[in-house]
Amino acid sequence: RRGIRRISTGVKSLDELLGGGIETKAITELVGEFGSGKTQLCHQLSVMVQLPEDKGGLKAKALYVDTENTFRPERIMQMAKYRGLDPQEALKNILYARAYNSDHQMMIIEESKKIIEKENIGLIVIDSLVAHFRSEYPGRENLAERQQKLNHHIAQLLRIADIYNVAVVVTNQVVAQPDVFFGNPLKPAGGNVIAHGATYRVWLRKGKENVRIAKIFDSPYHPEREVTFRITEEGVVD
Ligand code: GTP
Ligand code: MG
Repeated sequence: RRGIRRISTGVKSLDELLGGGIETKAITELVGEFGSGKTQLCHQLSVMVQLPEDKGGLKAKALYVDTENTFRPERIMQMAKYRGLDPQEALKNILYARAYNSDHQMMIIEESKKIIEKENIGLIVIDSLVAHFRSEYPGRENLAERQQKLNHHIAQLLRIADIYNVAVVVTNQVVAQPDVFFGNPLKPAGGNVIAHGATYRVWLRKGKENVRIAKIFDSPYHPEREVTFRITEEGVVD
């Protein structure tokens, strides 16, 4: 894919795993159990995207779609300060939208094109991609409809990522191990690449105390190894 740009996660080991950071024109899915660091990474990437390019950012803003009311401005300011940004400015550079249900979530993304055309957006976060869909379409009997809606939503995200050269990061809480993982919304039948975009899945799990372990799976472009990082007062670090 031509013209892709990368946003550093702020964690060397994780950047190495990702081949330099998360990519524009792609969706990166953070998959993991509760407390594995998905939301913390979303916060950190919303800060990192604002850094100049020589520091791993895109000197751009983030659009943060929050479905679970877990966005914490104070945490953004803490992370921003550690990365040498003005905390208040960093917060202003994150355009925040609370999504109240799955239709609202899809509408925000539909409408986001207008925002991206006006503002210098380098990153779209959806935390969580699937929570509303899961609660509104529960059980096997609703699986087909849920999947259809999610596929539409994901296709739209990929289009936006591709057209505007932005990175998309979404979260997906799971309880199972990746090898027994069932019904992943981002896994298209017949391969990893949909249209022009790509999807990468980063599996996160908890280690001891503040240690977290990351692995990329199902990607022909990334190594099959694990890296560790920590979540501290400074944010997400090596
Ligand atoms: P779910 O949304 O429940 O699926 O979890 P998650 O994967 O989004 O986890 P999240 O990123 O919210 O939290 C991961 C860890 O970060 C938790 O164990 C917290 O203890 C830690 N954490 C969150 N905020 C702070 C903070 O301000 N300071 C420090 N030191 N740690 C924090
Ligand atoms: Mg979370």
